[in-house]
Amino acid sequence: MNKGTAVVTGGAAGIGQAYAQRLAADGFDIAVADMNDASTTRALVEATGRKFYSAAVNVSSPESTLQFSADVAAHLGPVTALVNNAGIYPWKSFAETDYEMWRKVMGVNLDGAFLMAKAFVPGMVERQHGRIVNVASSSLWLNVPDMTAYIASKGGVVGFTRALASELGKDGITVNVIAPGLTNTKSMHGTNEEIFDYLPKLQAIPRTIQPGDLVGVVSFLCSADSAFVTGQTIIADGGQARI
Ligand SMILES: NC(=O)c1ccc[n+]([C@@H]2O[C@H](COP(=O)([O-])OP(=O)(O)OC[C@H]3O[C@@H](n4cnc5c(N)ncnc54)[C@H](O)[C@@H]3O)[C@@H](O)[C@H]2O)c1
Repeated sequence: MNKGTAVVTGGAAGIGQAYAQRLAADGFDIAVADMNDASTTRALVEATGRKFYSAAVNVSSPESTLQFSADVAAHLGPVTALVNNAGIYPWKSFAETDYEMWRKVMGVNLDGAFLMAKAFVPGMVERQHGRIVNVASSSLWLNVPDMTAYIASKGGVVGFTRALASELGKDGITVNVIAPGLTNTKSMHGTNEEIFDYLPKLQAIPRTIQPGDLVGVVSFLCSADSAFVTGQTIIADGGQARI
């Protein structure tokens, strides 16, 4: 069944790619907004029989996100789901975090969700239907050093979600958050490898989280079954953080 188009930001790699693949299997055509080439995601989506469109988009740019919404409408038609997954997570102490770095992290992680909502919510309001899933992180509820800008940005994502949900409920649009725990992606490896040894042991389900462990939550939040769930945060971290 065709469910319309789902937009996934940062869907060229990592967790976003897994969201795109799952939403395609669920029956959505997929549009990926990413700074990087999304051809691997294209192959995965097209293998499900769904249509795919991607463009080089910087989610922290008002012009780039607005242009993307026009391009998606032209290529794939109405957007029914928006997953604001693009994010960056530089491991920097507070002392090492200068204002430029702070603004960059806010620009992608928080402004990006705002700008993509600005670009796609008007169409959802017009059609009186939509699903928005923003991506935070379970680190927001945990003791994680060297991530001040990141954790602040993800706190902003939760606040933005709650506020936007309050405004859009009357228009048939839900807005929720998935907050993953430490997940096995290429970008997460390299800088702080030791966390993969000790963090999973603190989870109720004590193994490393794979992108595929997260996709069911996003699938539910984009589905008809979640029609009365809005403003909420679902932590998918194997049961470490509790809210
Ligand atoms: N991996 C984890 O352990 C983990 C844990 C909790 C939350 N998250 C969140 O999940 C999301 C995805 O994480 P990931 O590990 O898959 O990351 P990743 O680095 O593997 O993928 C992120 C994608 O976003 C794209 N991107 C970055 N800046 C962009 C911009 N300005 N405009 C458009 N695209 C941009 C990148 O090109 C990349 O393809 C992020 O929001 C991250 O904060 C990840």
